[in-house]
Amino acid sequence: GAPISADISALEEGQRMILEWRGQPIWIVKRSKAILAALPTLDAHLRDPKSENKDQQPAYITGELRSIKPEVSVLVGLCTHLGCSPEMKAEIRPEPFDENWKGGYFCPCHKSRFDMAGRVFQGVPAPTNLVVPPHHYENDTTIVIG
Ligand code: FES
Repeated sequence: GAPISADISALEEGQRMILEWRGQPIWIVKRSKAILAALPTLDAHLRDPKSENKDQQPAYITGELRSIKPEVSVLVGLCTHLGCSPEMKAEIRPEPFDENWKGGYFCPCHKSRFDMAGRVFQGVPAPTNLVVPPHHYENDTTIVIG
């Protein structure tokens, strides 16, 4: 399919915009400073914290945040296990999943968990991190997917 663009100027911290590209849900999420600070603290609990499996993102997406701008995360919203749609639980708080929960995505089908960079936790069925689709910024507030 053709590339699509999104105006993210009204996207607020903690909010998610959902688009469709090539029949897949695309999530654009604005992350808070607290969420960004929590991400590196999770590395020891993740399967691929530095996202070294190159099938999961374009080459220009590297490191723990997995994004072009630190605060803006762009992900394909499909679980890498069997393709269910994970739920976003962006809050940093002990409930509802476990005391170490620091915000992320929870797949209701078989309980896979991902952090707010889409990085998969150890010990869950999903084998890899959520996919980051090809994207770039056309200007400060316009993202092009595809
Ligand atoms: Fe998400 Fe199985 S489809 S855990």
